[in-house]
Amino acid sequence: AGADGVRRFDLRLRQGRSEFLPGKSTPTWGVNGDYLGPTLRARRGDRVAMAVTNEVGEPTTLHWHGMRLPARMDGGPHQTIQPGGTWSPEWTVDQPAATTWYHPHPHGTTSQHVYRGLAGLFLLDDDHEVALPKTYGTDDIPLVIQDKKFTEDGRLDEDFGGTYGLLGDQLLVNGTYDPHFQVTTTRVRFRVLNGSNAHVYHLGFADNRVFHVVASDAGLLARPAPVDRLRISPGERFEIVVGFAPGEQVLLKGFSGDEEIDRGDYDILRLVAAAQLAPSAELPQVLTPLAPPAVGATVRRFRLGGTNINGREMDMARIDEVIPAGAHEVWEVDNITFAHNFHIHDAVFRVLDVDGEEPPEHLRGPKDTVFSPGKTLTRLAVEFGNHVDPAMPYMYHCHILRHEDRGMMGQFVIV
Ligand code: C2O
Ligand code: CU
Ligand code: CU
Repeated sequence: AGADGVRRFDLRLRQGRSEFLPGKSTPTWGVNGDYLGPTLRARRGDRVAMAVTNEVGEPTTLHWHGMRLPARMDGGPHQTIQPGGTWSPEWTVDQPAATTWYHPHPHGTTSQHVYRGLAGLFLLDDDHEVALPKTYGTDDIPLVIQDKKFTEDGRLDEDFGGTYGLLGDQLLVNGTYDPHFQVTTTRVRFRVLNGSNAHVYHLGFADNRVFHVVASDAGLLARPAPVDRLRISPGERFEIVVGFAPGEQVLLKGFSGDEEIDRGDYDILRLVAAAQLAPSAELPQVLTPLAPPAVGATVRRFRLGGTNINGREMDMARIDEVIPAGAHEVWEVDNITFAHNFHIHDAVFRVLDVDGEEPPEHLRGPKDTVFSPGKTLTRLAVEFGNHVDPAMPYMYHCHILRHEDRGMMGQFVIV
């Protein structure tokens, strides 16, 4: 933070070039660089001030996905930054530690802008002490997983058609093709973001080892949840802790699922452990006191059609829902079609049940985005924010970017 206690960030959305496939280069976009953007960091209570300059040559926005902040600062489709322009939102971070992220949100062209490379992580810290690995770059590692399609000459293929839009056949982690990571500690925390346009991954290790989920989108779980597979859909984040033995090598993979949108059987990251590993702290039994979800009396239902919600496509001039500040409500995500997911801006929710069944432990923590398998009813206990603004809406939408672009999005205001 500066002398005035304000943490300032200068972000330039710019055009660049990247070489993903060896020897082949492609035009890309990035934030302060050629592809993706810096990992930002702030602490609960910090005042943050952004200067976001648009140098990509077309109108765009920058949305703080997972951040709880006034709607005018949210960077949704109403906060357009014209080419050459600078947008300067400012807010006070007031939420628990979490792995959030930023990406453009221009109505109708979010697919292109994210796919070309405009995205990055925004890590939030707080004063709650918990013994998790936290040395960034050593045992606290971001993993931004994205799929791409390349033309024969190595350029990014922008084929956004079809039911789901772009389903790539090559993977990048943090913008790197064929990545590996040198493990130097007995435990590593990975902050995983699915930053893909559409693909869903079922993460796991080649030797099927058990690992622990410690946080979901909006913060820590009550206690570490052991899993050997972890489904992650676009926009979701999970923090996991993985144990390693000296000298071993293991592959983080994506396994096949049973929907068309699942990314089947691919290598994601090669992990190579050093011959000597520095000992990490034991994984704590309890991470945070997490109250049971507060289930409000107001129930709203959102029927997910092919590219609409409740039969309506996004209209920038229409407010779909009016919600009292600080409300607790039950939102029923009623998917009557194929795979989607559901994200709500400025809110935090808990998954109550999916088709009447309680979710697995690792899906019981605080979230802002959830997968919605075809033909299922997911019930969410949602807590809304306190930033009243009857004139400026927040969004809820499917985070499969083609669906979002085609209008599978609605707007709500907090009053
Ligand atoms: Cu990740 Cu409405 O956004
Ligand atoms: Cu968002
Ligand atoms: Cu969808």
